[in-house]
Amino acid sequence: MKKRILTGDRTTGKLHLGHYVGSLKNRVYFQDTYDSFIILADIQALTTHFEDPKKINQGIMDVAIDNLSVGLNPEKITLFQQSQVKSIAELTIFYSMFVSVNSLRHNPTIKTEAKQYGYKDLSYGFLGYPVSQAADITFCNADLIPVGDDQLPHIEQTRKIVRRFNELYGKGKDILTVPEALLSEISRLPGIDGNAKMGKSLGNAIYLSDNKEIIDKKVRMAKTDTNRIHLNDKGNPQVCTVATYHKAFNLSDYGNLCEMCKNATIGCSACKKELADALNKELEPFRERRAYYEERPKIVGEIIAEGSRKANIIGDNMVLHVKDAMHLLI
Ligand code: TRP
Repeated sequence: MKKRILTGDRTTGKLHLGHYVGSLKNRVYFQDTYDSFIILADIQALTTHFEDPKKINQGIMDVAIDNLSVGLNPEKITLFQQSQVKSIAELTIFYSMFVSVNSLRHNPTIKTEAKQYGYKDLSYGFLGYPVSQAADITFCNADLIPVGDDQLPHIEQTRKIVRRFNELYGKGKDILTVPEALLSEISRLPGIDGNAKMGKSLGNAIYLSDNKEIIDKKVRMAKTDTNRIHLNDKGNPQVCTVATYHKAFNLSDYGNLCEMCKNATIGCSACKKELADALNKELEPFRERRAYYEERPKIVGEIIAEGSRKANIIGDNMVLHVKDAMHLLI
């Protein structure tokens, strides 16, 4: 039997190159070898955007199309919507009994996001979303979770929950599988402004759905080595966003370009032009698939409904096991 992958994204808007490098690329790569589940995390999106449900609704479609456009094959993978899978909500409740509030408060990603959104008094749902994420991962007993490094605290929290659950209710048997994170080589892409992280809400992202003109323009704006002012100044690729992007999207020329930068034999704008070309080359096949699905939203809806149906069957069965282990069946 194939091992299982589960990963996904909150549906607050379109996905960007950071998502692609950190996780989507691995999703495509592993779709043949693993039984792959991709979650459209609309409940998790509500934890920060509960006042903006229309945005989440649009986000479900956008994120689904982003996933399909990069080459995930709906015949192979299970693409499903979190709020349609009841077992996720049920497992969240059960796990919440033994997860400590302090462990959530100290979760570094929760802390960073709370700061970023300016939250002082955290909502119950926001503080608890790592518990809900543990339910996302365990309803189907996923083995491997391809994610960017910002998600590591959540995977660690899930592993703790699983171990604790098995210890409490397993009677020597493992009911739940302890999952493992799968990091890609470049698990965090900087923003075009040079910020350490590319983020939807940071306004520094290149989107998978950006067309050629936008990509060319954004790459022209990207931050390089700020000490390199004149063409004959020698550059330092280690502090250059564009160099990091070359490494992620144009690896065959990366070494050479770094040498030329260090010797001042290539200028930033020529180097950026090469990057924009490499990016457009990588994104071109995605654009064709995107156009296909954008013209057929009904097909996308059917893919999500079918995936959710399949996820429900697996999840309902898991909840039965869990309830049995917890002595809740009479
Ligand atoms: N928290 C993830 C993000 O912000 C999205 C997500 C929800 C997820 N459930 C998941 C990722 C389960 C991996 C596994 O991108």
